[in-house]
Amino acid sequence: MTKETVSNNQNRDITRRQFMHKAGTVAAAYAAGTMATTRAVGQTNSANERLGLGVIGCGGRGNSHLQMLNWMKEQGDNIEITGVCDIYQPRLEKAAQQYKAKAYRDHRELLADKNVDVVCIATPDHHHGYQAIDAIEAGKDIYCEKPVTHWRQFELTKKLAEVAAKSDRVFQLGTQAMSDSVWHQMKKLVQEGLIGQPLFGETGFFRIGDWGERGMPVDDANAQPGKDLNWEAFLGDAPKREFSVDRFFRWRLFEDYAGGPVTDLYPHCLTQVVDILGVGFPESVVALGGIHRYDYELRDVPDTFNLIAQYPEKVTISMIGTQANDFNATEPRGSGQRAPVIRGWDGSLTIDRNKEIMFTPVKVQGAKEPQRIPIEHAEDNVQHWRNLVECCRKREKKTWSPMDLAFRTQTVLQMAMLAHRAGKTARFDKAKQSIII
Ligand SMILES: NC(=O)c1ccc[n+]([C@@H]2O[C@H](COP(=O)([O-])OP(=O)(O)OC[C@H]3O[C@@H](n4cnc5c(N)ncnc54)[C@H](O)[C@@H]3O)[C@@H](O)[C@H]2O)c1
Repeated sequence: MTKETVSNNQNRDITRRQFMHKAGTVAAAYAAGTMATTRAVGQTNSANERLGLGVIGCGGRGNSHLQMLNWMKEQGDNIEITGVCDIYQPRLEKAAQQYKAKAYRDHRELLADKNVDVVCIATPDHHHGYQAIDAIEAGKDIYCEKPVTHWRQFELTKKLAEVAAKSDRVFQLGTQAMSDSVWHQMKKLVQEGLIGQPLFGETGFFRIGDWGERGMPVDDANAQPGKDLNWEAFLGDAPKREFSVDRFFRWRLFEDYAGGPVTDLYPHCLTQVVDILGVGFPESVVALGGIHRYDYELRDVPDTFNLIAQYPEKVTISMIGTQANDFNATEPRGSGQRAPVIRGWDGSLTIDRNKEIMFTPVKVQGAKEPQRIPIEHAEDNVQHWRNLVECCRKREKKTWSPMDLAFRTQTVLQMAMLAHRAGKTARFDKAKQSIII
């Protein structure tokens, strides 16, 4: 089970009181106007109308979203789960029954449902990009799980970014860490010049265990394609292979459908660093990684992965991590685990042990004063959803984790995976927007 699925299960077990407390804290931040709010553009066309929600992929994460959305509805959010989709019949039936939603075995049928306004895409990584494009073309707004695409799908990522930019549809990537005010506060401090010329972002993701891959639940060891599930639809654009229960249920073990920590976990801690530093696309990325601990027959994704990205803005980002040791050298923070260090010519920003933003000036004559800045509120997945819902009502495209940011972040991760596999430096052709390896 991944840290994420652990938190899914925690979400499932979360009590109403805990939910109320979390929601209340952030609602207060909203009321105080301290939340990184959205900009309204133009007239709202559905300010108070009920929004119908469709969830594509009713596995671990899809169910955690269904539970969250149902809870939000109970709290008075004007939303309703109207459709669910899965290619595995038992999960589809269970979700449809539990949430009294229409069941679809093909996501395109769900997208044709007029009662669905917003879709949540919680399928394996290699489906996200296609389903998101289909959703935009069907006129739906989107909550798309991370990673926005699979590591081999750079062209698809680019296409989705283009389609999303041209459309008026609202897009939120499921990097719920972006609901933490600290990243928006740090971004503002950097924009205001506190650290001087931005220079370097260091981040990492350290945890222990392979439960996210090997530990994924196998609902039925005797499941069969046709009767129980649609194997062709699971494969999508992945290499054609014979049906395998492990590949179907424990897809995170395989590079055909996943990428290991670099694509599964690093979107949670790289997205904010790219955003804070305000960088575009890297000119080059180097990466090293491998299976350093969980070396068994089925697994072919790395468990350890380190990358360095260099930008034309003269900014460097380093992102290191392993699933074989969980010590965090800096303060852990939400889904991103390890707080980043953001360096500039005048000083550095990070989060200290008192959970405040800490500015440490460089040690030179005439340096700026050290500063501690309180953090307004922590990450909250319900608020990540509410930010999307609010943006949908206002027809505001600037969500907390929009597609243009997802594109820039995912390009680094894809370049890193390609660089690691080829044993080369991956370069980016800015004019052609293509990766050269
Ligand atoms: N943001 C987070 O914290 C977080 C946490 C967990 C998972 N995730 C992401 O959510 C996604 C799903 O992960 P999961 O752990 O729930 O996996 P899962 O295997 O438990 O669920 C995926 C579901 O999608 C279904 N599916 C497969 N292909 C499909 C298709 N073509 N159309 C419709 N349904 C299809 C499967 O049958 C399965 O029920 C992944 O991309 C993962 O990275 C994000």
